Amino acid sequence: MSNRDNIEITLITENDRERMEQVAQMETDVFPDPWSYHEVRSTVRQKHTFCAAAMEGDTLLGYFLCYYVLDECEIARIAVAESERRRGIGQMLFGFMEQICHEKQLKRMLLDVRKSNQTAIAFYEKNKFGIDGERKFYYGGKNPEDAILMSRMV
Ligand SMILES: CC(C)(COP(=O)(O)OP(=O)(O)OC[C@H]1O[C@@H](n2cnc3c(N)ncnc32)[C@H](O)[C@@H]1OP(=O)(O)O)[C@@H](O)C(=O)NCCC(=O)NCCS
Repeated sequence: MSNRDNIEITLITENDRERMEQVAQMETDVFPDPWSYHEVRSTVRQKHTFCAAAMEGDTLLGYFLCYYVLDECEIARIAVAESERRRGIGQMLFGFMEQICHEKQLKRMLLDVRKSNQTAIAFYEKNKFGIDGERKFYYGGKNPEDAILMSRMV
């Protein structure tokens, strides 16, 4: 269990190999369609992305990966280690993301989320996202599911 005072949110850059490996490991722990190390690295390396990690010493507690196009930021991933949830780390990550959106003068944040993922939907609603619509069977693969589309102004 972490004391929030010891947690630092830092940008992930393409030289942070260990950090990207930790993110890929957490992807496997958290998501039904995990991104591989190579997918994480290729996202971090792209020009119009920004990514950050919540660290306690050398331990990764959570992260986010965002794309931006024109004045919109798309949240591709945000996750916190299961044992560390509901302690405000998601909020810390989100606050850092908002700050970067302001710095880049982005105007809108958007995302899609699995309809069954009520925890994430509650998290986004807490952060003032509204529901824009649904996409039927948006997620394919082994667990086909509808998506909820959400957005808010920065
Ligand atoms: C969504 C997620 C990142 C939230 O991280 P977290 O560190 O637990 O979030 P926080 O502790 O900062 O919670 C912030 C607020 O979100 C809401 N929330 C978070 N978890 C919740 C839950 N299980 N049930 C209801 N509301 C919840 C609450 O409003 C909470 O505020 P409160 O604790 O003051 O009531 C985390 O649950 C997670 O990693 N989920 C799996 C990955 C995922 O689904 N990501 C999103 C899809 S891309």
